[in-house]
Amino acid sequence: MTEDRTPAAADNPEGAGTEETEADQPVKGRKNGLYSEVSDELAASMKSGWADTELRGLEPIPQASYAAARRAALSAQFPGERIVVPAGNLRTRSNDTEYSFRAASEYVHLTGDQTEDAVLVLEPLPEGGHLASCYLLPRSNRENGEFWLDGQGELWVGRRNSLAEAEQLLGLPTRDVRKAAEELKADAATPTRIVRGYDAGLEGALAEITTEDRDDELKVFLSGLRLVKDDWEIGELRAACTATVNGFTDVVRELGQAVATSERWIEGTFWRRARVEGNDIGYGSICAAGPHATTLHWVRNDGDVRPGELLLLDAGVETHTLYTADVTRTLPINGTFNPLQRKIYDAVYAAQEAGIAAVKPGGQFRDFHDASQRVLAEHLLAWGLLDPQTYDVEKVLELGLQRRWTLHGTGHMLGLDVHDCAHSRREVHADAELVPGMVLTVEPGLYFQQDDLTVPEEYRGIGVRIEDDILVTADGNENLSAGLPRRSDEVEAWMAGLTG
Ligand code: GLY
Ligand code: MN
Repeated sequence: MTEDRTPAAADNPEGAGTEETEADQPVKGRKNGLYSEVSDELAASMKSGWADTELRGLEPIPQASYAAARRAALSAQFPGERIVVPAGNLRTRSNDTEYSFRAASEYVHLTGDQTEDAVLVLEPLPEGGHLASCYLLPRSNRENGEFWLDGQGELWVGRRNSLAEAEQLLGLPTRDVRKAAEELKADAATPTRIVRGYDAGLEGALAEITTEDRDDELKVFLSGLRLVKDDWEIGELRAACTATVNGFTDVVRELGQAVATSERWIEGTFWRRARVEGNDIGYGSICAAGPHATTLHWVRNDGDVRPGELLLLDAGVETHTLYTADVTRTLPINGTFNPLQRKIYDAVYAAQEAGIAAVKPGGQFRDFHDASQRVLAEHLLAWGLLDPQTYDVEKVLELGLQRRWTLHGTGHMLGLDVHDCAHSRREVHADAELVPGMVLTVEPGLYFQQDDLTVPEEYRGIGVRIEDDILVTADGNENLSAGLPRRSDEVEAWMAGLTG
């Protein structure tokens, strides 16, 4: 693709009709690479000779009924108010190229749709409840040239669903998104809330009828609405973990090429699996060899991969429906832990075991963090990195002294976002009990920085994290990422089986 694709919408915001209407203003000639001048004959030719490809009798997408239940909960929370949930817009990378689009999680959760520029609107009904509608861009108009002359025309970006098709797939009435702002502004008397941060144009259009405080309340509610996953979501997270296991397996198989090149080979290997089995990676892969493992969010991934050192790989596949796994393994690059690496690894493993055991219904969300931190503190005392003459484990935990080497919280909710439900209220999340259907990571780690003069030299530059995705069940938990080995000897056997 080398041609310039200047969007028509800027010249002609209202002019591009829908598939149901007659042609509006023709899209004017514009800089369009080879075809900067459009003859009348060519314009006439491009209008006709196209088959009717409308799809009929479509089945709803599998999550349609689940999304409807979520909208019902939203409707019950905000009676009499209009709720606006944008999907977000494309962002320019340079000139006429855009970053790849990823729809807002709130919009995806409530619709199952992933279309850019779309908007879900819940309009309050006089009799109570709401009418939910999805505002979408219709198929390109072929009469006025939008189809082939507009940068977002279907000839350039691919066929979209018609509004009628989307209606069948989503189980929602659909409307033309180009009329959304005008229609919503027309009734300024209805109290309105919008999820901010995704569609600046629509936020601006509704600025006079929305307030930041009330919009924040909406965001917080929608974040909390995702705390307990339904059966369909659990299936998606299971699939994300399965694909992620495959990605880690690919990386181990290709460790030799990573040694010959760099951490980038690992990043690319995992990403290939994510793109083939899912939509993408769910967050920037952390491919941290050697001392890079002590940098918590090492995503530059441009370092050497050296036998004898450890590889900390923190990566997750995002499914086609945008649910992500979040898994970390710390692997000996030559296939075998040396004694110090094993000692540190086994301590983190013991901390993770304690953390996972604390994930059960009725337990507090914080229990798994406390359990893991206690085990790590005990090891730091036993190794003499914290002075056992001065502190006992209770004092270490009270003062948080272990955190010099444990650095981060032991886990977080997981779902459409890798750090899911991050805006929800403390009372329903951080300070609440675990409930069946919650999915969270348990990911303790120990990190000894290269310049840390408080630890023996041989510790410096070693970082270990083990992370799994844990579903709270009725009677305990299930490790969704158990397809990857965790114990040090099992990790070695697994690697030997793949590389030997
Ligand atoms: N996996 C990255 C994180 O949890 O921050
Ligand atoms: Mn994580």
